[in-house]
Amino acid sequence: MSLFIQKNALASYMEAVQSEAGKGSVASYIPALQQADPDAFACVVHHGREREEAGDTGVRFTLQSTAKVISLALALMDRGEEEVFSRVGMEPSGNPFHSIQALEKEKPAKPLNPMINAGALVVADLLEGNKPDAVVHRFLRFIQQITANPDVDICAETAASERNHSDLNRALCYFLKSHHVLENEVEDVLNTYINLCSVRVNSCDLARIGSVLGADGRDPETGEYLIPAWTAEMVTTFMVTCGMYDASGSFAIKAGIPCKSGVSGALLGSLPDGTGIGVYSPPLDSHGNSAAGTRLLEKLSSDFQLSIF
Ligand code: DON
Repeated sequence: MSLFIQKNALASYMEAVQSEAGKGSVASYIPALQQADPDAFACVVHHGREREEAGDTGVRFTLQSTAKVISLALALMDRGEEEVFSRVGMEPSGNPFHSIQALEKEKPAKPLNPMINAGALVVADLLEGNKPDAVVHRFLRFIQQITANPDVDICAETAASERNHSDLNRALCYFLKSHHVLENEVEDVLNTYINLCSVRVNSCDLARIGSVLGADGRDPETGEYLIPAWTAEMVTTFMVTCGMYDASGSFAIKAGIPCKSGVSGALLGSLPDGTGIGVYSPPLDSHGNSAAGTRLLEKLSSDFQLSIF
């Protein structure tokens, strides 16, 4: 089914779920994220050349874990399926995004999937570029191309803030390094990963990313392939199985929309008819997913029959 919705209707849906934000809390373990306005709420639906938007669509925020979708696509394009999945698995973890426990169980050490932090750190290590800056620059250019927005940049303040509060991700890196899963130095991998998470977009950009992924990797306006179809298909499958972390199962049942969350409050949705949905609402639920954003997608899915199942 399709999501053809008028601005006013979209705004009404948002109003109906806005109170959910009050039940969540803005991420604080990266201090810069705590500065976000808890009442900010934006939703954009992108399909072909059409775009419907409501709320605070001018507000910019960092991709955080929604970047994992694009870094996986780029790593698959760089290294191919066989190499990428020799280093990172394909299975949902059922654990929180920063969990370390499953890493010890896999022999040899291999993160369960590319959407948890351990897996995304390995993906960052796989990206091609001879220096960390070159990798980050390539990634930024790729996002600018997918969003058709040259203003997408890296928020240096958020990156610095995360760098100073990265002990858990640093620990994951050292664990991986000691098991010979990382090729590059720990600080380089960590820096690359943090910069990817700190790419700054608005909800229109996020919706366009979802649209490209849903349209088999094609630019919604020109039809040009920006991502190979097999890669887009693989990435959106991970969004279903692992995109909402340990809430992926319930979200698949309730909404059935391939979706990826980020601790900034970003939600990136993608439907197989080429519809992209970008939502931003910073307060998070206990799984680290945008509280109001999750509820909004569940409601839209149920009323517009958006589930892919
Ligand atoms: O590595 C981190 O903790 C953050 N840069 C990203 C985590 C994140 O977005 C998890 N998503 N819900």
